[in-house]
Amino acid sequence: MQAIAVFPKSREVRSIDVLEPVLESPTQVLLRMLDVGVCGTDREICAFEYGTPPAGSDHLIIGHESLARVIAVGSQVRTLRVGELVVPMVRRPCPHDHCTACRASRQDFCFTGDFSERGIGGAHGFMTELVVEEERYLNPVPAELRDVAILVEPLTIAEKALIQLWHLQERLPWQCPHRPGKDHGHCRRALVLGAGPVGLLGAMALRARDFETIVYAREAAPNDKSAVVDAIGATYVSSKDVPPAEIAARFGAIDVVYEAAGASKVAFDTMQALGANSIFVFTGVPGRKGPVEIDTDLVMRNLVLRNQMVLGTVNAGRDAFEAAIRDVAEFGRRWPAALRALISGRNAPERYRELLLGRPTGIKHVISFAEN
Ligand code: BGC
Repeated sequence: MQAIAVFPKSREVRSIDVLEPVLESPTQVLLRMLDVGVCGTDREICAFEYGTPPAGSDHLIIGHESLARVIAVGSQVRTLRVGELVVPMVRRPCPHDHCTACRASRQDFCFTGDFSERGIGGAHGFMTELVVEEERYLNPVPAELRDVAILVEPLTIAEKALIQLWHLQERLPWQCPHRPGKDHGHCRRALVLGAGPVGLLGAMALRARDFETIVYAREAAPNDKSAVVDAIGATYVSSKDVPPAEIAARFGAIDVVYEAAGASKVAFDTMQALGANSIFVFTGVPGRKGPVEIDTDLVMRNLVLRNQMVLGTVNAGRDAFEAAIRDVAEFGRRWPAALRALISGRNAPERYRELLLGRPTGIKHVISFAEN
């Protein structure tokens, strides 16, 4: 069967022929991959800046955003049936007894760094026709989400951030007064940095909780991304029109920044303009482009004098996957056209080169494997 793989030593990205996997334990599930998303992480792996093959292999099969159909189950699989749709989780636990996070199935908080991530580091991924996976890493998805469930994994980043946000902000009187028909965030203002898929899905998650939401990105409006932002009742602002330090002056105090751009300069410039009790959530993984100047005294003064918080968050646990599956369904009810517009194209696997190595286009490109 076909798989898309990177060979870091010879610096190649190739379509390869691999043996079909088989069930090796009664708790495993055989999956036919339907959709595999292409994201910035995949492009970095294909530029040999990130990612590691499994031990002993000269290549890594890439792909970590995925949607699959169950085609066979081991005799002890209890929660999944043949024919069901599933979204696999990405990270697998480290082996160490002292890692309380991994031992508690919270490998997204692994202490040791010896975890693996399918399609990213130390384990083959999902950009292939068939995959075998343990039942416990699979999240069932309702059949009606077939066309949009590829967005679940990139949405888990925002869901994990939001789960933590409510916990962390509970340390202060942050709750909005109850307003009938309005959700938790209705008296708060959020700023999303970046209008790629992680940013736009984050903006949808924030709007679904009634945050006033501003999406700040490079490109001048109108464009495909600003159209999505308009459709969900958020405000699109281009950095060509408003510098980061002026956003709060223009729109009012920012309570939450959801960073999804991976550009550290803009992020720290924005951080300097934040008000009291705000929280800044970083999700981007910037390439190392060399030092930039920031006013560290100002950042530190604000953090202390304004009770601010800076949070980094990576990967996601089962709670975030379940929340993402619920939210993708909710976004589909509220903003069906905007949700579909996030998927710029479904492409045959043969197009992997231009999607992974060519100039990025559109919002989210998906590689689809034929289901027969
Ligand atoms: C993936 C996460 C992963 C992170 C770091 C992201 O693109 O969505 O699952 O933990 O990269 O490798």
